[in-house]
Amino acid sequence: MTDPHTSRLPGLHRRSLAERRALLAQRLKDGDIRPLLNGGLDDALLDRMVENAVGRIAVPVGIAANFLVNGREVLVPMAVEEPSVIAGASHAARLAREGGGFRVRVSPSFTVAQVELRRVVHPGSRILDQRDRILAAADAVQPQLVSLGGGARDLEVREQVGDAHRTVVHLVVDCLDAMGANMVNTMAEAVAPLLEELSGGRAGLRILTNLADRRLAVATCAIPIDQLERPSFTGREVAEGIVAAGAFAAADPWRAATHNKGIFNGIDPILLATGNDWRAVEAGGHAYAARSGTYRPLSGWTMEEGMLRGELELPMAVGVVGGASRCHPCAVKCLELMNVTTAAGLSEIATAAGLASNLAALLALSTEGIQAGHMRLHRRRL
Ligand code: MEV
Repeated sequence: MTDPHTSRLPGLHRRSLAERRALLAQRLKDGDIRPLLNGGLDDALLDRMVENAVGRIAVPVGIAANFLVNGREVLVPMAVEEPSVIAGASHAARLAREGGGFRVRVSPSFTVAQVELRRVVHPGSRILDQRDRILAAADAVQPQLVSLGGGARDLEVREQVGDAHRTVVHLVVDCLDAMGANMVNTMAEAVAPLLEELSGGRAGLRILTNLADRRLAVATCAIPIDQLERPSFTGREVAEGIVAAGAFAAADPWRAATHNKGIFNGIDPILLATGNDWRAVEAGGHAYAARSGTYRPLSGWTMEEGMLRGELELPMAVGVVGGASRCHPCAVKCLELMNVTTAAGLSEIATAAGLASNLAALLALSTEGIQAGHMRLHRRRL
């Protein structure tokens, strides 16, 4: 009998839609998969979510199988219009299982708000001397966050950014299980008058940065090389091809952009399915990829001791409270399906899926090419 919790579901793609739905219903507490079937967005909710609402666009939601993330079996819901993405992620996750699945480390949920100060000269020490007062002023407008254990944690001052008279203050906030954009924006606006008073300058922009480099996730996996064997390719040849593809991306920004797009193929569909702001994570990922001054790949692949090892590191500012994740019925179901109750838990899965999608793409590109599988699935659609 199949383990009722396993994500290893051989032949899932051969089952009928009805069979897949029945299987999924068994994994949900109330067995109700209706929000996954039609998006669950009724007119009343639609009208509250955005302005001038008129309708909705349906995107397929599929399930990526085989994921083992930090030892946990996860069925991964992905909302995506592109064929191959779900199949590729599932295939790569099955390969990663052979080496123990994905290991993912996630840093605390620190989101950073920027307050720009104009027409100031070296205000750094005047601001930093009042660090505790500024953090307290920020916390004062988010009592609920503070009561849950989060809140303002740190202050950084970057003087003379761009020109001699601009200083940027970074307010570092632990947003716990929220992505935190609204919370930190409110805090930034609240502390701006105090920063003006301390610096003698004028506050300009007060808004979070999407370069969420205090909120990083690192996923790794190791695949026994013999598992990579393909018709006409030995496992070693495939592994060497994947390592070489990583090196190409590291050397060439044009290739790096496509390499990273393949990573976001795995991440964005999970963010969309869970009501997260995928534009924010994309912006953060690409900015992080360019942090050295040259646009680089977010992942790398090496070969050692009979294993192909992959590592992906990127900012992962996601939430499971606030935003659409708690009010969109489909997002609620998708989080439940993954058994995810924390932002860290969601980051782990999304980052693992990013590495899986990258592996799937490089594997195809290094062997038969991407088009054979892609066109097979594309033809089915037509
Ligand atoms: C297509 O959606 C993604 C790929 O182009 C990624 C890559 O080239 O690594 C296949």
